[in-house]
Amino acid sequence: MNRNILITGGAGFIGSHVVRLFVNKYPGYNIINLDKLTYAGNLANLKDIEDRPNYKFIKADICDYDRMREIISSNQIDGIIHLAAESHVDRSIKDPFTFARTNVMGTLSLLQAAKEYWESLQEKYKGKLFYHISTDEVYGALALTHPEGVVAPFTTKASSEDDMAYGTEFFLETTKYNPHSPYSASKASSDHFVRAYHDTYGMPTIVTNCSNNYGPFQFPEKLIPLFINNIRQGKPLPVYGKGENVRDWLFVEDHARAIDLIFHKGKVAETYNIGGFNEWKNIDLIKVIIKTVDRLLGNPEGYSDHLITFVTDRLGHDMRYAIDSRKLQAELGWEPSLQFEEGIEKTVRWYLDNQDWMDDITSGDYLTYYREMYSL
Ligand code: NAD
Ligand code: TYD
Repeated sequence: MNRNILITGGAGFIGSHVVRLFVNKYPGYNIINLDKLTYAGNLANLKDIEDRPNYKFIKADICDYDRMREIISSNQIDGIIHLAAESHVDRSIKDPFTFARTNVMGTLSLLQAAKEYWESLQEKYKGKLFYHISTDEVYGALALTHPEGVVAPFTTKASSEDDMAYGTEFFLETTKYNPHSPYSASKASSDHFVRAYHDTYGMPTIVTNCSNNYGPFQFPEKLIPLFINNIRQGKPLPVYGKGENVRDWLFVEDHARAIDLIFHKGKVAETYNIGGFNEWKNIDLIKVIIKTVDRLLGNPEGYSDHLITFVTDRLGHDMRYAIDSRKLQAELGWEPSLQFEEGIEKTVRWYLDNQDWMDDITSGDYLTYYREMYSL
């Protein structure tokens, strides 16, 4: 089988892991990575696969409808995995328009361009798929009904700290959308458009909603890489509010594996939640990060604890996210491969071993370097 797969946002954090997985695992596919290379897009994330014959990079903006039409038809795209987005909640609070533009209008332009091309073919939508990557944040916020945490009632893993649930409710695929931040509102809107293209035009679509990802190549505006980098540099760790908010963390390669499985085996028009039943209160997670970084740097235990700095809370800060991913486990047999302790150790080690990557990003040099390299 020869498939032409368009992956949008492939130079970003999750997208780069998805591109790498597909390029390595499917030599018979043509993998086209389409990315605008915003501040969050970094081709250094894909250095190890950039010369592969089944990989091609195209710099483009998903909002550019004519460009999307041209790229989709000239590359005879039959599958789209759509990750390109503005992804940081704090930025969305300051600049909601950019989020509406990229996440809503960009998704719509991609959908319409795919529709036009696929409907022009004799076989129409046969063998085609528009797979939209979304977030658990569209479901809103859950209550913190067990502030100290209890073991999740249906966890498949050992009853250890990493299986803690901080409330009795979880997000299901059927949970009503209730987004709060401009980021989640824009993602919710894009999800609705994707489903509308299925319901109205019969386009084969799938939507997945995943919990917070962590791992290598994440832009250091997000909690985990930001804090690892700050600890290394002895800088303050800004904890929003009291650090009591709860997030459900999944190792990024496990998300990429789920995307691969769903792209190939998922049922059209379905929604799948992706998560590993791994809830952490921010302050507890931060303590684990500090302990791990200090240990790997050879510092005595407690050396960087003083960096914790409680700051003004994020506006409209959602209290708790918790994904129920039992549908994906039951129907497609997906399970996370890593326990959290292992994942966080791997992640901290990666950032400490790849300080050049971090330093390039924080100095902005990487943009100049790749602009010159690709004449961008
Ligand atoms: P990211 O910010 O690291 O990467 C986004 C990528 O999209 C970047 O490479 C950027 O250059 C590109 N991009 C942005 N605007 C574009 C445009 N107009 N045209 C083309 N490319 C554009 O984001 P991420 O964390 O890798 O998230 C990827 C997707 O997964 C997003 O859709 C996000 O909503 C979703 N998601 C993320 C998480 C998470 O924890 N990071 C969890 C669940 C779902
Ligand atoms: P983040 O990584 O921005 O992901 P999201 O907002 O999508 O969940 O933040 C994770 C949690 O960490 C969230 O509750 C906000 C909190 N946080 C801080 O306390 N300080 C920070 O500097 C950042 C970036 C996040």
